[in-house]
Amino acid sequence: MTHILAIDQGTTSSRAILFDGSLRVVASAQEEFAQHYPAPGWVEHDPSDLWSTVAGTARAAIEKAGIGADDIAAIGITNQRETTLIWDRDTGQPIHNAIVWQDRRTADTCDALRDAGHEPMITARTGLLLDPYFSGTKVKWLLDHVPGARERAAQGGLAFGTVDCFLIWKLTGGRVHATDATNAARTMLYNIADGCWDADLCALLDVPMAILPDVRDCAADFGVTRADLFGREIPICGVAGDQQAATVGQACFQPGMMKSTYGTGCFALLNTGTDRVPSKNRLLTTIAYQLNGKPTYALEGSIFIAGAVVQWLRDGLKIIREARETQPLAEQADPAQEVVLVPAFTGLGAPYWRPECRGAIYGLTRNSGPAELARAALESVGYQTRDLLEAMRADWGAQADGVLRVDGGMAASDWAMQFLADILGAPVDRPVVTETTALGAAYLAGLQAGIYPAPEDFAKGWALERRFAPAMDVAVRDGKYARWGRAVAATMNV
Ligand code: G3P
Repeated sequence: MTHILAIDQGTTSSRAILFDGSLRVVASAQEEFAQHYPAPGWVEHDPSDLWSTVAGTARAAIEKAGIGADDIAAIGITNQRETTLIWDRDTGQPIHNAIVWQDRRTADTCDALRDAGHEPMITARTGLLLDPYFSGTKVKWLLDHVPGARERAAQGGLAFGTVDCFLIWKLTGGRVHATDATNAARTMLYNIADGCWDADLCALLDVPMAILPDVRDCAADFGVTRADLFGREIPICGVAGDQQAATVGQACFQPGMMKSTYGTGCFALLNTGTDRVPSKNRLLTTIAYQLNGKPTYALEGSIFIAGAVVQWLRDGLKIIREARETQPLAEQADPAQEVVLVPAFTGLGAPYWRPECRGAIYGLTRNSGPAELARAALESVGYQTRDLLEAMRADWGAQADGVLRVDGGMAASDWAMQFLADILGAPVDRPVVTETTALGAAYLAGLQAGIYPAPEDFAKGWALERRFAPAMDVAVRDGKYARWGRAVAATMNV
């Protein structure tokens, strides 16, 4: 048994990737699924889509690799975080669609809690800010709006979970109701200092504690799969939210190391070790990973639109047919034009946290066209990342001044990564293996299963593909970043 199956259940697709005993990718499969937008600002997933794409891609990857279930030592799960499900413990049936992390329907609940003065207590205990992004207010919404849910929950008949927890339940045939500390840390119900569900927060949000899952380490025993799924019971040994799994996959094990993943959004995590650093600059304090009962903390900056801005160029403006056309188009942009795009399509995340804000474009001339917009789109990702790093530097001083390790779809663009290094004024490192999210989940499972080495040795295997060194003139950099700052301020004032 030399292989590990990593399941990566993301916002727009599910993926399954098989790694061999040397952590090399042997086969993978991917399937997209439908997004549901029942009202403006609402985003849902059908739980049966989440499950069928996970089961389907897992089987497809095993088949492609030409191995049997007997060759798989363990499964690792990583997932879109915060997305909220509640299901019936007896039937396994979800009581509603999953409410996705991007969903803004609980903005009013968050405002009311803030007006009532609860935010400082919530932040002190969870490391989070009062925002509809997190699971807590979504759980409350489901219990308040699904007929009969409160009564059923009071009888102990319902189970809540983030996507990892739902998949563990499905994979084990309802035998295990558990999550890991990184996913628990995104619920707004989990006390990251004490490492337990917080009774006061549950009371505040009207969430009965009987619906909550057991919380385990990232490398731990999460039960075994139903034998009929893959022809044999396979142990589930690793679980982490996708951004935390990427932090592990990037081997950011030392305090001061940071990574930034460019998917739909962009999420930068800075390892702060055993220090639970409270942010004075509207970042999140979160758990990077938890091993042997010991949490390692991180400061996190979350941007909601990164790769999604390229999708908008393709599907909204229709100025490209494929994402990879963005870079050549951006390279043709007129250097004399200074078009700035603030992609606040679903509000602004860190460090602004303005859910009601919407996007804007500045500096258009009669000569502005697709090339200038493509450049502005890629640049917006660099500027937003700098916003996060400025906040990290302010929160944690020069220790946050190191190299940024990048991964995710947009990290493949040399142009975007060079601009990122230029605007940060810091080196940007792209690893050979950019499948870091799945790699992190596989590593955690293989660590627990005893086939992968300790973190220090795993870290030695991290290999650099290319370093992007800052090359922009300092005055130009400062001028461009100042212009971005003015554009964001103007956008927030509209
Ligand atoms: O917090 C949300 C994040 O986990 C989603 O990641 O890659 O599915 O967009 P992704």
